[in-house]
Amino acid sequence: MKQQIIRCTDITKDLPDLLSNLQFDGLFVLTDKNTERFCLPRLEIIPEIRRAKKFRIPDGDEHKDLQTLSSVWEFLSQNGANRKSLLINLGGGMLTDLGGFAASAFKRGIRFVNIPTTLLGAVDAAVGGKTGINFNGLKNEIGAFAPAVAVLIDSNFFQTLDHTNLFSGYAEMLKHALLCGRDAMHCVSTWDSLNELLRFDLGKIDYAKLNNLLFESVLVKERIVEQDPTEQGIRKALNLGHTFGHAFESLSHEQNRPIPHGYAVAYGLVCELYLSFTKLGFDKTVLTQIARFVKENYGVFAFDCIHYQRLYELMLHDKKNETAAINFTLLKEIGEIEINQTANQQEIDETLDFYRDYFGI
Ligand SMILES: NC(=O)c1ccc[n+]([C@@H]2O[C@H](COP(=O)([O-])OP(=O)(O)OC[C@H]3O[C@@H](n4cnc5c(N)ncnc54)[C@H](O)[C@@H]3O)[C@@H](O)[C@H]2O)c1
Ligand SMILES: [Zn+2]
Repeated sequence: MKQQIIRCTDITKDLPDLLSNLQFDGLFVLTDKNTERFCLPRLEIIPEIRRAKKFRIPDGDEHKDLQTLSSVWEFLSQNGANRKSLLINLGGGMLTDLGGFAASAFKRGIRFVNIPTTLLGAVDAAVGGKTGINFNGLKNEIGAFAPAVAVLIDSNFFQTLDHTNLFSGYAEMLKHALLCGRDAMHCVSTWDSLNELLRFDLGKIDYAKLNNLLFESVLVKERIVEQDPTEQGIRKALNLGHTFGHAFESLSHEQNRPIPHGYAVAYGLVCELYLSFTKLGFDKTVLTQIARFVKENYGVFAFDCIHYQRLYELMLHDKKNETAAINFTLLKEIGEIEINQTANQQEIDETLDFYRDYFGI
């Protein structure tokens, strides 16, 4: 099923327009405490939303679990949801992942609409049809491919986001821009979006401009997903920065100093562009531009060379690997994607040396 992505000019009109085109019997809205406070009030001038049954789940990834999922099913069931009902997920990636999965299985599947309220949610989680929950200590262990019928993108919601959540999403936008070359099929008008992103003033955000940059970025993901919804091939392009990134993220959790996903991806991008440079001749100037941007805006995730072995093991156990080798997505140049690349332990250690040298640790 193709997912409609709507760039909102005024969500109080765009949402009712969408709803009037979707036949449904019963409207349900999922929020968490922050989206109930900061985002729902903007939608409540819409009569359908005012009348809709609403349910608030706890926020935070630790609640992306079976218990919260079951509470959503209970809410739907007790409020008479049927197969023609529609669920609106109003929240960040945690909420759209869980709400989407809840909808995908309730009465064998009801339709849902995502309204991402975090930058990471908009650029990544809400789009592309992956839904799920964490289980047994494992991230996204249970889930389904289930696209929302529509995703409404409105940057105005991000005005209440803190700095960290904003930058976390921005890293995924950088990744999309790197995947987007002059002739790449999955790219829209500007192939030069990387430079626009590197120049964009994150200290004093122009939200209308951010909405345009974001929408282009979302389309990069959407077009890649359209070609390969279940990640047999080209969808792996979206893993750029994520092999090192996931290892950094996991190490940070093991050491009780967690870093947000997007920050881990930002550091991962630096490492994987370095590997792209050494293995595939990727342009060193672009590598340096990205590394400088990351250093200036994301600070550093510091570790010692005694942690190299653990990082290597974490990469080895990454669920993206299909064989015994570590799987990377690398770039020959901007937009020239090489999936299913690999690197040995020595190359990985060298990359970590480069990272630590560059960040001065
Ligand atoms: N399905 C996918 O393809 C995919 C891709 C990337 C990430 N994810 C998942 O997304 C989740 C992370 O998403 P996230 O970074 O959006 O985190 P999140 O959903 O946990 O939100 C972060 C915090 O921001 C708050 N918040 C949300 N909107 C707000 C707003 N407008 N103003 C103020 N606060 C607001 C939330 O209540 C929460 O406390 C993870 O569970 C990850 O696994 C999924
Ligand atoms: Zn990511």
